[in-house]
Amino acid sequence: MCGIIGYCGPKPTAKVLLEGLRRLEYRGYDSAGIATIKDAELTVIKKTGKINDLASVVPASLDGQYGIGHTRWATHGAVNDVNAHPHVSQNGKIAIVHNGIIENFASLKETLEERGYRFVSDTDTEVLAHLVEDFYEGDLEEAVKRALSLVKGTYGLLCICTEEPNTIIGARNGSPLVIGVGDGEMFLASDVTAILGHTRQVVYLEDNEVVKVSSEDFTTTDIRNTPISKKIENITWELEEIEKGKYPHYMLKEIFEQPESVKRAMQGRLDEEYATAHLGGLNMSTRELLEIEQVVIIGAGTSYYAGMLGAYMIENLARIPATTELSSEIRYRNPIVKRNTLYFAVSQSGETADTLYALRELKRKGGKVLGICNVVGSSIARESDGGVYIHSGPEIAVASTKAFTSQITAFYLFALLMARMRDLSFEDGLILLRGMKELPDRINAVLKQSEHIKHLAEKYSYARNFLFLGRGLNYPVALEGALKLKEVSYIHAEGYSAAEIKHGPIALINPDTPSMFIVPRDELRDKVITNMKEVKSRGGKVIALCTEGDNGVRQIADDTIEVPEVNRYLNPFLMVVPLQLFAYYMAIKLGRDVDQPRNLAKSVTVE
Ligand code: F6R
Repeated sequence: MCGIIGYCGPKPTAKVLLEGLRRLEYRGYDSAGIATIKDAELTVIKKTGKINDLASVVPASLDGQYGIGHTRWATHGAVNDVNAHPHVSQNGKIAIVHNGIIENFASLKETLEERGYRFVSDTDTEVLAHLVEDFYEGDLEEAVKRALSLVKGTYGLLCICTEEPNTIIGARNGSPLVIGVGDGEMFLASDVTAILGHTRQVVYLEDNEVVKVSSEDFTTTDIRNTPISKKIENITWELEEIEKGKYPHYMLKEIFEQPESVKRAMQGRLDEEYATAHLGGLNMSTRELLEIEQVVIIGAGTSYYAGMLGAYMIENLARIPATTELSSEIRYRNPIVKRNTLYFAVSQSGETADTLYALRELKRKGGKVLGICNVVGSSIARESDGGVYIHSGPEIAVASTKAFTSQITAFYLFALLMARMRDLSFEDGLILLRGMKELPDRINAVLKQSEHIKHLAEKYSYARNFLFLGRGLNYPVALEGALKLKEVSYIHAEGYSAAEIKHGPIALINPDTPSMFIVPRDELRDKVITNMKEVKSRGGKVIALCTEGDNGVRQIADDTIEVPEVNRYLNPFLMVVPLQLFAYYMAIKLGRDVDQPRNLAKSVTVE
């Protein structure tokens, strides 16, 4: 959600900024801009549209000694060139880029207007630019700190001034900011993908910290000027991981990476000798684990659906009551936090505001919260009491795919661990564990059917509405399949428990509204087949996602996608992959921008 980048160093500044913005574009892509300073002259160029639109109006000759850039996901103010960042102070000397929301911008704006400042945009960020100018008395860092002391809200921001050569001030509260430490050059960015091509050495800023960088050095303090010493960390991600390689889109690449990413999520964590799992990052003793009486999982979007599956597995396998809550809702429900309840906050990015704030609320009330995150060092990972890194590698496509299968892997590992400390026998534990080990090969087999799935997506691309129906463990998979299709193809899709359609949604059935049934050979298969017949007898088209060779399903469905037979608990891994591919190929057929669907952004850092 909004990407920011700053650069101080000898390389061509505009080029470095544009390159960084391209890498950050997945965070927001409705407009973009850069500001560079050379010999005390500020140049600002901003434009509605993608980074390529911006690049097309940046003159090749533009250079600078330091500069900042921004790619926007609009919060305050319409999408237009004026509202794009950077925003410039009235005297034209200070430029700011900002990710987050200034909640008290209206009252600050009023005060500034009374003091003679004129506003040109509708954004909250412009307030910051004028406020910093108002406090500026020859020390930009001081002016930024004084301005921020009046601000209520969230920010990851960068600020430059024509009177302070070779200097960028960065500050963080609620929106991520990382310093990239180079050799004679420094970077600042919302995430490491923007700077990975230049340096692997990074420093993560915490909330209420301010950094002053020059090309040679950086100093960090808190907002009250207390010096803070920071640790330089090494990025483990490789540059190739953030490039598309041979794939036309990140989404397709990430779908195809799943055999490998699921394997990585399990690596070193499965123990055949005791038929259990090891999750050292939980930071919990055996005694503490045995005392857990309830599990509550929070998350948003795809992570929430992964949590639903997690709750099902924990309850089913370990016999511990487990539920899932939308992180955006739990926070405002004044949650009752009981002793011996364990919370999980699930988040690919580790920065989703709804989940982060819910985590803080639960912790404030004494809750123990573990994180299930992908991005190492992210806010949720750092603020939780322990957890499981899923190690999917960077997920760049806005629609989450490989993170989902890795998140559920983490839950299966946790469920196995808990179950083996309770009722699950060694033999049953081993069956599940061995099934999990085979998952990468099974997922590979499903991926081999991508041409068939593409053909089906094309066949059904006439539909403007879709139903996704599954039961039990595959109910969250149906919800996820519907979400994927909506997000990337803009086709209206609803996910339901197959059993629920007779309670209302069946009224939607007609020849133009196909239903995607998830119907593996498990204990609910026959009941789902009954639901399929109900749809067919009302003229609905049925695509069935079933177990290989299931003739009973074949006879009813108009089309099938068949996946290898696995332990019944493991079906969701194989069922979700065709749904991801189906959404992808549908979006391609309809000419959508798959990696950057309209109105969306990766990593939603506002509530
Ligand atoms: C769906 C999608 C979103 C995210 C949600 C939570 O494809 O990407 O629904 O799952 O915004 O994001 P994280 O997992 O980063 O907290």
